[in-house]
Amino acid sequence: MRDDIQEVLVSEEEVQNKVAELGAELTEEYEGRFPLVIGVLKGCLPFMGDLIQKMDTHLEFDMMDVSSYGHAFVSSGEVKIEKDLNTSVEGRDVLIVEDIIDSGLTLKYLVNLLEYRKANSVRIVTLLDKPEGRSVDIAADKAGFIIPDKFVVGYGLDYIEKYRNLPYIGVLKPEIYQSE
Ligand code: XMP
Ligand code: MG
Repeated sequence: MRDDIQEVLVSEEEVQNKVAELGAELTEEYEGRFPLVIGVLKGCLPFMGDLIQKMDTHLEFDMMDVSSYGHAFVSSGEVKIEKDLNTSVEGRDVLIVEDIIDSGLTLKYLVNLLEYRKANSVRIVTLLDKPEGRSVDIAADKAGFIIPDKFVVGYGLDYIEKYRNLPYIGVLKPEIYQSE
């Protein structure tokens, strides 16, 4: 699998250091508030799993699965809930955990939904941010790494469901796409 990677954009050590840093900041910010941490499947899984272990505060977590209609690279903005939350967000301090913000369409939809459901506060932490891809006005409250407008895989991010289990963020060799 690792032979398919052309370039490592964020190494395993850089990922882990950043997660620890974000976790420490979030610990301070959410101390005593029992936040509801919401992960967006499936890409958030490695990041969320590591991040919540670095948050030294009581918290609850839940998962949502949304899909945006489109193809492997570009989301269309039309969002469909594949799996909804099991937890009520009313009055809760919600922290959304994302793997990457690109166009921002998925998150815009989610933030609106959680506000409509009367969350007390909604904040976003994302491991990666691709500001060049943005088509709607939304920003993460915390972003681990700002990356260029390249398609990346690893640490939750996939190319047709593969590479999610890489411990770092990388760019695939072009022949991997050509062989599909
Ligand atoms: P939007 O565009 O709504 O999309 O911010 C966020 C979702 O798009 C996917 N995405 C990527 N997935 N490598 C991936 O594997 C990428 O470079 C990439 N850019 C966007 C991802 O599912 C994310 O949650
Ligand atoms: Mg994907």
